[in-house]
Amino acid sequence: MRTFTKTYPNPEAMCRALAHHQWIGHANPDVRIPQVLHVRPTEIDFEHIEGRHGGPDDLMALASLLGHQHATAYTRQLRAAPLDTPHTHRTVTIAGFTAGRRERLQQLLASGTVPEPALTSEAADDWLERAATMPAAFYKDANPRNFLITDADVAVIDFDSLTLAPFGYDLAKLVVSTAMTTGPLPEDTIRRAVDSYNHHPRQRGLPGCSWREFAAWCEFHHVLTTPYLGTNGYRFSWHTARPTWTTDILRHLDKESAP
Ligand SMILES: Nc1ncnc2c1ncn2[C@@H]1O[C@H](COP(=O)(O)OP(=O)(O)OP(=O)(O)O)[C@@H](O)[C@H]1O
Ligand SMILES: [Mg+2]
Repeated sequence: MRTFTKTYPNPEAMCRALAHHQWIGHANPDVRIPQVLHVRPTEIDFEHIEGRHGGPDDLMALASLLGHQHATAYTRQLRAAPLDTPHTHRTVTIAGFTAGRRERLQQLLASGTVPEPALTSEAADDWLERAATMPAAFYKDANPRNFLITDADVAVIDFDSLTLAPFGYDLAKLVVSTAMTTGPLPEDTIRRAVDSYNHHPRQRGLPGCSWREFAAWCEFHHVLTTPYLGTNGYRFSWHTARPTWTTDILRHLDKESAP
């Protein structure tokens, strides 16, 4: 079988990726991930999957896949998981949502290097506090390069990052990182992507992700992904690509007016 070898900076990072791969396999048994073929201290040989990266035309399908992944993971494993506490399943532990993220957000917001953030440091903290009481889904860095689309299916790859996260958080990563790669997305496409995602949690009686939450998570990703602008194919800053309703809804906190 053809292999794709991924090299990690150290054995700890390799072990983490391996554990994450195992967890995703348990949480989403019907979603395709590459098999692990061989493991060395700083390398994993994965099954090579012939496919292309995601793009704007795949947004609806990928949003639906994420909604399915998150709703399934919640039902199978995360029903009782507090978002702020590391979640352990057998030998695998997944980091909580806030750990590390709060510091990084605060540091980037204080640095003045993020163009036109729609969240203040205080607002970011408030959102983190609110998130702590929300149902748990996960973040696995849903950038468009972490999907391989084949003629038959969609495979999810890249097991480096995995944390608990509220519903909609990784969808916001997909939307922000796709727009940062190829430019502004039609507002209607974003709206339909959120609907297509929410169909899965709502089918199971879960609240899904509100417009305001989605707008907040997009701003989190704006802050956290800005340092990578100019690399990884990111050519557009989210502040030039985002729909105005996302910033409007964050500024008028008492109105659920969009879109
Ligand atoms: N199992 C696989 N089969 C085929 N190609 C793969 C596989 N795993 C990764 N790739 C290719 O290598 C790229 C980088 O892999 P991966 O996402 O794991 O690393 P990365 O360090 O996050 O890189 P990037 O920032 O470009 O996403 C993927 O976008 C994909 O094109
Ligand atoms: Mg990747």
